[in-house]
Amino acid sequence: MNEITLDVKIAKTKIDRNIYGHFSEHLGRCIYEGYWVGEDSSIPNERGIRMDVVNALRKIKPPVMRWPGGCFADEYHWMDGIGPREDRPTMINTHWGGVVENNHFGTHEFFDLCELLDTEPYVCGNVGSGTVQEMSQWVEYINFDGKSPMTDLRKANGRENPWNMKYFGVGNENWGCGGRMRPEYYADLYRQFGLYARDYGDNKLYRIACGASGDDYRWTEVLMDVVGTEGFRRGPYMDGLALHYYTSIRRLADGSRTGSATSFDEAEWAEIIGKGLFMEELVRKHGTIMDKYDPKCKVDMIVDEWGTWYEAEPGTHPRFLYQQNSIRDAIVAATHFDIFHKYAHRVTMTNIAQTVNVLQAMILTDKEKMIVTPTYHVFEMYSVHQDATMVPIDVQSETYAFDDYSFPAVSATASVDADGKLHISLSNASPHKDIAVSVFVRGYEGKNVSGRVLAGESMNAHNTFEQPNRVQPKPFSGATRTADGLTVTLPKMSVVALEVS
Ligand code: AHR
Repeated sequence: MNEITLDVKIAKTKIDRNIYGHFSEHLGRCIYEGYWVGEDSSIPNERGIRMDVVNALRKIKPPVMRWPGGCFADEYHWMDGIGPREDRPTMINTHWGGVVENNHFGTHEFFDLCELLDTEPYVCGNVGSGTVQEMSQWVEYINFDGKSPMTDLRKANGRENPWNMKYFGVGNENWGCGGRMRPEYYADLYRQFGLYARDYGDNKLYRIACGASGDDYRWTEVLMDVVGTEGFRRGPYMDGLALHYYTSIRRLADGSRTGSATSFDEAEWAEIIGKGLFMEELVRKHGTIMDKYDPKCKVDMIVDEWGTWYEAEPGTHPRFLYQQNSIRDAIVAATHFDIFHKYAHRVTMTNIAQTVNVLQAMILTDKEKMIVTPTYHVFEMYSVHQDATMVPIDVQSETYAFDDYSFPAVSATASVDADGKLHISLSNASPHKDIAVSVFVRGYEGKNVSGRVLAGESMNAHNTFEQPNRVQPKPFSGATRTADGLTVTLPKMSVVALEVS
């Protein structure tokens, strides 16, 4: 009944490391407190960036970081965030709680953070309330090496060389907080803004267009028609089209969500994991539309916001979107990666929302304290798949059902890395049953198997500042090599990472 078949001989598609990307916005305590504490802070920092967070993130190899938003991006005016910090003007972060933004974390600080993390920067520009000139000048400031007003300004602010940024987003959620536009209008604006976001020197900008909200397939249809087909430059005008989908119990009229991150029953366990799996339908259906206009996959699908979204933790600012993170979120992360790998021929970057202290975070901080979440551990356990070759996999699983939701209890993915090691990652969403799985491995000789498991003692198992290691990976002894593959017993509510060599 529970059988997995994989054939290493037919593996051919690369799993782009950027599928393990991040998103960090000026929202709540993500940037301020999460990364930026300032040079005078007692929290150990380099040039104002806290190093406990940097060191923890380095371990999960973040390949790319999207910034400054989100909805904030379409209100952000980058020139406010350069120059001496004490002279930078303040603004009101109207979208996220009406708090004062002092602009102390701006372009230079972001690129500094990316250098500390050894991650590729992905900057999202302002289409909703910005101008073509403002966007054009930002790219010039970041990437131009010749003599120009923007280059002179950058040098005056202490940065001699351009940063050679690759990834650039032309607006965010322009169907919503980024301007309430219709796809026809945004598509034309994209062509205009995207044109003036120039390439400089050998650096070819990778331009990402705002994509659909969830199942808004018309948005993808229009964007592919107007922006994604051959233009004067004999190629599509965009390199990537960005889909957004959040996993929630319910969205209220004011944009807030219901359901607690840690205080929930089995109905909400099933609902969240079941709704997370809807990502597969979205990727498949948006992909089918993209295939129609772009059969050679010149335009990538980028899922630059995804993750769980619950009510904010009691006692915290509702617009700061601070939520805890349990083994349920770990399973949602694992199943998302399984889906993204399956469509790796089209999906080349995804960015979880958000890295620190916001939504489905890797890291939570409380002043000088820091903990990592079950989702962090999934990113670490799955990091072996970055840039590996995806092994097509067939998963036959028993069904887990509760209330209105029913789906396969077991999800899995596999890849072969550059050293020829086979990695198989599996999860079991049943909160009641350990599940034995027969894995049939074809075209692979390796005899040794080792692994780690991340499991919850309860559906809401999570880490706290008092108990930071309640959910963490442990050695796994539930896998045995057989003549034709493996037998694996997956504990209930677990994510398992196996290496066969
Ligand atoms: O990640 C939080 C918000 O969700 C982002 O700012 C926005 O793009 C999306 O609606």
